[in-house]
Amino acid sequence: MRWVFRELRDWWRGQREPESRAFDAQYGTRTVWFDLFNYEPSLPSVIEASLDALDIDVEDYTFVDLGSGKGRVVLLAAMRPFHEVVGIEYRERLHGLALDNLASFRGDLAAPVRFECADAARARLPDGPLVLYLFNPFPAEVLVGILAKIQDSARLVYVNPVAGEVLDELGWEEIARHEDEDVVRSWRIYAGPYD
Ligand SMILES: C[S@@+](CC[C@H](N)C(=O)[O-])C[C@H]1O[C@@H](n2cnc3c(N)ncnc32)[C@H](O)[C@@H]1O
Repeated sequence: MRWVFRELRDWWRGQREPESRAFDAQYGTRTVWFDLFNYEPSLPSVIEASLDALDIDVEDYTFVDLGSGKGRVVLLAAMRPFHEVVGIEYRERLHGLALDNLASFRGDLAAPVRFECADAARARLPDGPLVLYLFNPFPAEVLVGILAKIQDSARLVYVNPVAGEVLDELGWEEIARHEDEDVVRSWRIYAGPYD
């Protein structure tokens, strides 16, 4: 029964978030939708503010949303000139909806976009400098395994950073943060151990 309440909560959040509805209306997408998956999209204002706080030349970095859902983060990030923007999502239905949203997207893309249907914990990360984006897709131990693959300059944009202490322990340095009493509006940016 718990999933019913969770889905109703997510559906209600979608209804009460005018900025989420405005995003879909502006860009011709369907990123807020009642479904039976553990999916909640980042708020557009959170995506924009956190990306604005990056201290890097994005042209040099590949952006990867780990657990990309219906693709909202990927599409907004791809309006900036990253080297490439990648979304990794393991639920086929959500991956398919992300592809639909890419096809219908009315924004100006400034970067190549690629959606991959895969388990982010096992997926091969792109080579070169990375910006990883994370909004609560998996527990700390999975995150640790992914971060162990990093070999180059990296930033982690972490929304609702429930496992933030793990990053401190792994030598990632916090370089920006925004606190809000609504956890889905709180985020931090970390620089990786190779910077
Ligand atoms: C809270 S939603 C965030 C969606 C998107 N990143 C955003 O911020 O709008 C988390 C997403 O991660 C996906 N996910 C969870 N574990 C995953 C894994 N191991 N590999 C790929 N996707 C995963 C879920 O299916 C869900 O779509």
